[in-house]
Amino acid sequence: MPLLSKYLSDARMARLAPHIKGDILDIGCQRGQLKTKVAGQIRSYTGLDMSPAAVAAARELHPDATFLTLNIDEEVVPFEDAFDTIVMSAVIEHIFNLRTLGQSLAKALRPGGVVVLTTPTPFGNDFIHSLGASIGLFSKIAADDHIAIFNRKRCEVFANEFGLRLTRHSLFQLGCNQLAIIEKPAPGALAA
Ligand SMILES: C[S@@+](CC[C@H](N)C(=O)[O-])C[C@H]1O[C@@H](n2cnc3c(N)ncnc32)[C@H](O)[C@@H]1O
Repeated sequence: MPLLSKYLSDARMARLAPHIKGDILDIGCQRGQLKTKVAGQIRSYTGLDMSPAAVAAARELHPDATFLTLNIDEEVVPFEDAFDTIVMSAVIEHIFNLRTLGQSLAKALRPGGVVVLTTPTPFGNDFIHSLGASIGLFSKIAADDHIAIFNRKRCEVFANEFGLRLTRHSLFQLGCNQLAIIEKPAPGALAA
């Protein structure tokens, strides 16, 4: 694993963890690393990834959790009003089909539930990540795979398109990474 990849994954999860609760869906769960970190604060954990190998490893590591292999570029998730928190840690930048993703998020969240996501900023992705990948600090494959780069405004526009609302946005790792919290408003909640 490239030198800083595990450090960055742990740092992302430390940022996400305080916002995670209840029944959670972890999109792009890989081997379910997040499950270990938040086990004491959630009711249930469901992980989803397009990689059958990652899902097989996750099932072995976490027999008490639910996992499914699904490509969220191609299919809307098979859940409705099912989750309090949907996590996407370093995943949205890999997604081509944001319409299908947005439909999945709006459908699978309970009213009042939140999407908690991290994704590189344009600065972090285009400059720092590319530079780090070129000298072996980060994964080059991951850097090459980033096709949807978000800033605060784009998070807000994406949320609004699916009847969701950006409620919090902050930068971390010296402006290279960002945390966004996107809520599914409860019925009757006034638009901000
Ligand atoms: C950079 S890794 C992030 C893993 C973990 N969430 C973390 O923060 O360390 C991105 C993960 O998203 C998954 N992924 C990418 N595109 C996907 C898609 N279209 N549908 C489902 N999973 C996808 C990849 O297989 C990979 O496990």
